[in-house]
Amino acid sequence: MPSAIDQLEVVPLHPSFCAEVRDIDFSQPIPPHVIAQVQEALDQYGVLVFRKTGIVDDRVQIDFAAQFGPLDDMEPHIKAGRKMRLPDKEMFDVSNLDPEGNLVTELDPQRLGAMKGNALWHADLAFNAPRAHVSILRAHQLPPAGLGGETLYLDARAAYDDLPEATKARIQNLVGNHSMMHNRKLAAPDIYEAINVRDFAFSKHKLVVPHRNGRNTLYITSYIHHIDGWDEEKSDVDNEAATVELVDELFRHADQPKYTYLMPWINDTDLIMWDNTAVLHRATGGPYLTKHVRDMRRTTSHDVGKHGMGMNKEAFRQGLPIAKS
Ligand SMILES: [Fe+2]
Repeated sequence: MPSAIDQLEVVPLHPSFCAEVRDIDFSQPIPPHVIAQVQEALDQYGVLVFRKTGIVDDRVQIDFAAQFGPLDDMEPHIKAGRKMRLPDKEMFDVSNLDPEGNLVTELDPQRLGAMKGNALWHADLAFNAPRAHVSILRAHQLPPAGLGGETLYLDARAAYDDLPEATKARIQNLVGNHSMMHNRKLAAPDIYEAINVRDFAFSKHKLVVPHRNGRNTLYITSYIHHIDGWDEEKSDVDNEAATVELVDELFRHADQPKYTYLMPWINDTDLIMWDNTAVLHRATGGPYLTKHVRDMRRTTSHDVGKHGMGMNKEAFRQGLPIAKS
């Protein structure tokens, strides 16, 4: 069948997902028909890498990203007390630098906690309503090669397809309660020990969500604190324990090499875009972390599709409160 993406050079990187897109010229505005082809490739592959884009201006990335949906911004984090290193509020700073441009150290427990939280499986903004659709991450400055920092992706559609039918039936109507605080507490319990996750908002999304192309996605993240929709009533404590058990069981299935791809960052200005409604991802860290600059910049669009709001009645966004030390 003829496909619009026949016109792009798309090189698959894994049997079921991830591809490299070649020969897009980012030095000038990208025409709508090329954007449409990129969108189609993204729907199919879930993760696209563009090597050596040459983009050094954040506004170029923002303008590109805005063509895939309305962009999220840093407003909730700024309100919660976060200082900005980068001038544009649509640009999420996922570097290991503080607002003054110094390497993050153990003296900045909140940023360190965030970096540890990003090393757990997640879909961006699952803790918000609407959730995220497309994330675009650009390497502004990479650490020396061989010191880590790869991004690991998981094909959450293929993982869903291969679940036993009994498991599919068991999880079909369950709803995850996603909390950014829960992820941070899991990643850095020493920093967030005193925080009660139930004092903060939850975003409700089903564990199984149809993708816009019709396939089901296993939408499980390290933000899920408890689950609604069990057959029998459970106390909060029993619910949280059963949630850990179920999420672990699903990840034992999904987190297998046949569903994952370790994406290397090779050059400054490499750009990776992924569909948070089709794939999960996590940072892998490495020896560079508190030794070498890794300046990564992310834009993220909202999921304006019919499942973007999940089971939430109204839109809301979580900002991370300052951890008390
Ligand atoms: Fe992320």
